[in-house]
Amino acid sequence: MERNALCWCGSGKKYKKCHLPIEEKMRTHAAHGEIVPSRKLLKTPDQIEKIKESAALNTAVLDEVAKNIHIGMSTAEIDRIVHDFTVEHGGIPAPLGYQGFPKSVCTSINNEICHGIPDENIILQEGDIVNVDVSTILNGYYSDASRMFKMGKVSDRAERLIRVTEECVERGLAAAKPWGHLGDIADAINSHAQANGYSVVIDIGGHGIGLEFHEDPFVSYVTPKGSEMLLVPGLMFTIEPMINEGSPDFFVDEENDWTVYTIDDGLSAQIEYMVLITNDGVEVLTK
Ligand code: MF3
Ligand code: CO
Repeated sequence: MERNALCWCGSGKKYKKCHLPIEEKMRTHAAHGEIVPSRKLLKTPDQIEKIKESAALNTAVLDEVAKNIHIGMSTAEIDRIVHDFTVEHGGIPAPLGYQGFPKSVCTSINNEICHGIPDENIILQEGDIVNVDVSTILNGYYSDASRMFKMGKVSDRAERLIRVTEECVERGLAAAKPWGHLGDIADAINSHAQANGYSVVIDIGGHGIGLEFHEDPFVSYVTPKGSEMLLVPGLMFTIEPMINEGSPDFFVDEENDWTVYTIDDGLSAQIEYMVLITNDGVEVLTK
């Protein structure tokens, strides 16, 4: 692209004042063996605006769940709240029909790591810890975030796991810097989990997001500092580590082929943010 032409991203700026320096820097890093994102993974200003609208609806759905979740309700009721609120606001629940997933949201309780399927017969009990993972399509743009909910008084064990999981995500976020690496985030998360006697699930991770539900890169939370993809401004992905009390290993429900459980029956917690790497930092799109 010619230096003085308008940049391909539609910013209205000249290429030389917009993506040219970013692409030159990426080329230098790539020449030194770094993993750099393809141009299509770098979101344009217009895409960012549309994805932010999707993320705002996704946050509103989670707020609606937070307002209504209570002991004695079924996870199918959570599913109805998510479905109806999303559709009433012009969105589509991304999980519904995704690779055959039968419901609009994932609800994962206690020893369930992720991908729990809402069910009329699963009733929230005092002491349960519940991850509600909401993903939304609005005008074709995707968003994804999850929160932990405590049902009444939970055990000290559960309380500590959730607190450390929150700290892990905050530390991961603090480690995310433009021109750093995905592995910096992973290392911040993994080391804090380990320092607290916990483990991070290895084979299920985060992902790029925005134009599709799951885009490149795959985001691991166990890789070393300085490894993995370069955090180039415009890259958008999720920070969503799954923190286990015991072993990081898991098995998948044989009947429904979705729900992921801890192998040792220990508790698991997860918090998911959707983030954008900017020229001078990182922006959380789902808060
Ligand atoms: N929300 C999950 C994620 O963070 C994906 C769930 S896929 C589904 O990637 F089909 F189970 F919804
Ligand atoms: Co996700």
